[in-house]
Amino acid sequence: MSRNNTLIALGMTAALVLLAGCEKPRPITVQRGFRGTGMELLYNKPRLDALYEQNQLPEVQSPASPDGPRAGEVYQNVQVLKDLSAGEFARVMLAITQWVAPADQSCNYCHQGEMSSDTLYTKVVARRMLQMTRDINTNWKAHVGATGVTCYTCHHGQQVPAQAWFIDPGPPPVKGFVADRGGKNIPAAIVGSSSLPWDPLTPFLLEANDIREQGTVPLAGSNRHSIKQTEWTYGLMMYMSNSLGVNCTYCHNTRAFGDWNSSPPTRVTAWYGIRMSRALNNTYMLPLTATFPADQRGPTGDVGKVGCGTCHRGVYKPLFGHSMLPDYPELAGPRAAPAVETPAVPTGMPAADAPASGMTPTSDPAASPAMAGKPL
Ligand code: HEC
Ligand code: HEC
Ligand code: HEC
Ligand code: HEC
Repeated sequence: MSRNNTLIALGMTAALVLLAGCEKPRPITVQRGFRGTGMELLYNKPRLDALYEQNQLPEVQSPASPDGPRAGEVYQNVQVLKDLSAGEFARVMLAITQWVAPADQSCNYCHQGEMSSDTLYTKVVARRMLQMTRDINTNWKAHVGATGVTCYTCHHGQQVPAQAWFIDPGPPPVKGFVADRGGKNIPAAIVGSSSLPWDPLTPFLLEANDIREQGTVPLAGSNRHSIKQTEWTYGLMMYMSNSLGVNCTYCHNTRAFGDWNSSPPTRVTAWYGIRMSRALNNTYMLPLTATFPADQRGPTGDVGKVGCGTCHRGVYKPLFGHSMLPDYPELAGPRAAPAVETPAVPTGMPAADAPASGMTPTSDPAASPAMAGKPL
């Protein structure tokens, strides 16, 4: 072996040793489609074990009799749960106390004085949350299936869900060389600490901008389908992957990201998840902005919002797919919220450019008020 070859061989061995040390223990590899690297998913056992620990279920209240007069008749100011028996109603109150209220506050977290009074903002928000939960479980089965959600899915015993999100105005402007476009040179946690835009959620989970990468016309400019705009799409994709604890191959054949025909069915579920998150934020969260006290709002004064991570919390299915609805059918329906039309899947599933019904891709992120003044 010549000296050069020996050096190359040594170098390659060193590289292999270094690479092998990147992740310990070795990740578990799951092949999810055609062979090759395009459809492989990697799991890290200690990380999965930790997530499993974090996703234990709360204790279930003992069942209540569905008989007797309705809560709407018994109580003075029951607007949503009026269809329940008084026993079922009391049981739901106990459950939401356990799921949402701080331990030292119990019922007082939402009630002050008369039980029927709406003085505390937490009660007003909780009523809307009851409607939102029923709406998700009735109108968004295309995403949540029969598994559905309860308050616990997002709140996990905390007042504020750990993964609610706020509009991120980004770091203060930096002068000089690193001056920057939409956070491109400043790693943000929400995009997996990559150098992608620091707020990829506002344009897509609040506004209905197009989530595309491939150019359809030659020049960038204000064209949504340009390499420049790709960064926003990738930012969202990094967020979605982290929220579910998966890599891109969970929803894509990485041979052709855009091609629906070679994507696994999970991508279709995710497509609905994007529309659902957007609808929940616009129907429920935004209108509650003024209800929240200023110190509960984000840096730009906005309300906490729902994203993939709010429910999923790092897991491919919230609570590893366990449904709490058989224990809490009170929250599965009947519907009290105004009907929200689940967007029909455009033909050819889903036709790449067809927007969900009633949701037209509007502006370029650059043109949106929330993005005002932010360089893209
Ligand atoms: C997270 C907030 C929250 C907590 C905690 C909570 N409640 Fe409620 N409570 C509500 C909401 C919201 C309503 C109204 C429901 C509706 O409009 O359908 C309500 C209504 C009531 C009513 C009906 C009052 C009337 O006359 O209109 C009673 C009784 C009640 N709660 C008891 C309790 C008890 C007892 C606890 C503690 C075990 C409790 N609540 C904890 C949010 C809460
Ligand atoms: C949980 C499922 C999911 C994961 C994980 C995911 N994607 Fe996506 N991806 C989607 C969906 C759904 C769309 C289409 C969005 C739409 O049209 O509203 C999409 C669209 C895209 C597009 C645009 C394709 C086009 O038509 O121009 C690209 C590129 C892309 N994803 C790349 C990635 C990359 C890179 C990763 C990993 C970092 C990733 N995705 C992870 C679901 C996912
Ligand atoms: C899809 C996720 C989700 C579900 C399900 C959900 N919430 Fe929330 N909840 C949120 C988000 C997001 C916020 C806003 C957090 C913030 O900024 O304070 C919130 C805020 C609240 C607050 C105000 C917290 C505070 O102190 O500011 C209450 C009370 C509340 N939720 C009660 C409930 C109840 C009761 C249920 C079940 C009937 C429920 N939530 C179901 C996501 C959810
Ligand atoms: C309101 C809570 C909630 C939100 C928000 C949410 N999901 Fe989900 N998601 C669920 C539930 C519940 C399931 C399990 C459905 C089932 O068991 O069939 C699920 C299932 C999925 C699956 C299918 C997983 C599998 O292995 O079959 C994907 C993919 C997914 N979600 C992606 C997303 C993405 C991407 C977002 C954000 C754009 C999102 N979800 C937002 C509750 C939510």
